Amino acid sequence: MQVEAENATYPKVTVPDCQVPKSLKGQKALVTGASSGIGKAVAIALGQAGADVVVNYVGTEGAAEEVAAVVADSGVRALAIRADVSQESEVEAMFAKMLKEFGTIDILVNNAGLQKDAPFERMTLAQWNTVIGVNLTGQFLCARAAVREFKRRGVVKEISVSAGKIICMSSVHETIPWAGHVNYAASKGGIMMMMKSIAQEVAPYRIRVNSICPGAIRTPINTGAWSTQEAYESLMTLIPYKRIGEPEDIGRVAVFLASDQSDYVNGASIFVDGGMTLYPGFATGG
Ligand code: BGC
Repeated sequence: MQVEAENATYPKVTVPDCQVPKSLKGQKALVTGASSGIGKAVAIALGQAGADVVVNYVGTEGAAEEVAAVVADSGVRALAIRADVSQESEVEAMFAKMLKEFGTIDILVNNAGLQKDAPFERMTLAQWNTVIGVNLTGQFLCARAAVREFKRRGVVKEISVSAGKIICMSSVHETIPWAGHVNYAASKGGIMMMMKSIAQEVAPYRIRVNSICPGAIRTPINTGAWSTQEAYESLMTLIPYKRIGEPEDIGRVAVFLASDQSDYVNGASIFVDGGMTLYPGFATGG
C-alpha cells in the first residue's frame, strides 16, 4: 500500500490539476515510446495544447491506438506508428510516414527508453547494448531525422518563431550516479552531452534542443518498486518535496519546452524531480 508522506511538520500532499495552455496550435509532434508512462502523458498534453501527435510505439499496438484515441479527443489528429528507435531503417520509415501524413514535424520528444539492470560484474554486453541502443542511439537517430526536416523547412512564423524543437527525455541520472544501473546512467549522461552539442550546433538555424530530467515518476514500470511502506519511505528520503512525480508533471513541462513560451531556453537540462538533485542528505548533515 502506498501512503503519501505526511507528518506533523509537513503539509498534506496535493497534486496540481492545471489546464494545459493552447500554445501548440497547428504544430506537428512526434513522441517516441508514447504507448505508456511518461510518453503517454506527454502525447496527451501536447494534444491538449493543440498539436497533432504521432504516437510512436514498439510493443503493443492496442495500447498505442488507445493513447492516439485519447489524444484525438482534444480535437487534433493522432496517429500511432510502430518503430524500434534503435534501428536506423525503422526510424527513417517512421519519419517518412509522418511527413507523408502530417506534412512536416515541428516537435520531437525523444522519450523512448528502457532499463536492463544488473550488478556491474554480471552486466552482459547485450544488456549494455540494448540500453545504449534505445536510450542514446535511438535519440540520435530521431534527432538527426528531425533536424534534417527542420533545416529543410525553416521557420514558418504563423506556426512558431523557431524552426523546430527537440525535447530529450533524460533523467536525474544524467548527473546522479546509479549503482546497479551503470548502462542506464551512462546512456543518460550521454544524452546530456549529445543534447547540448546538438543544441550548440543547430541553434543558429533557430532550432531549440533541451532535456527534461525526471526524478521518480509514477509509471506502470516503476510503481511496483515503491509499493511497500518501507520502500516508499526510503524513496521519500530522496525527495525533498515529499511526493512521487506524476506523468502529467512531465507533460506540462514538455508543452512549455515545445512552445514559444520557452523560446530563449536552449541546451538546458530541466530537472523535474521534486528536488531529488538537491543533495537531500545535506538537509541535516554536512
Ligand atoms: C528511473 C526511475 C528512478 C528515477 C530516480 C529514473 O530515471 O527511470 O526508475 O526511480 O530515475 O532514481
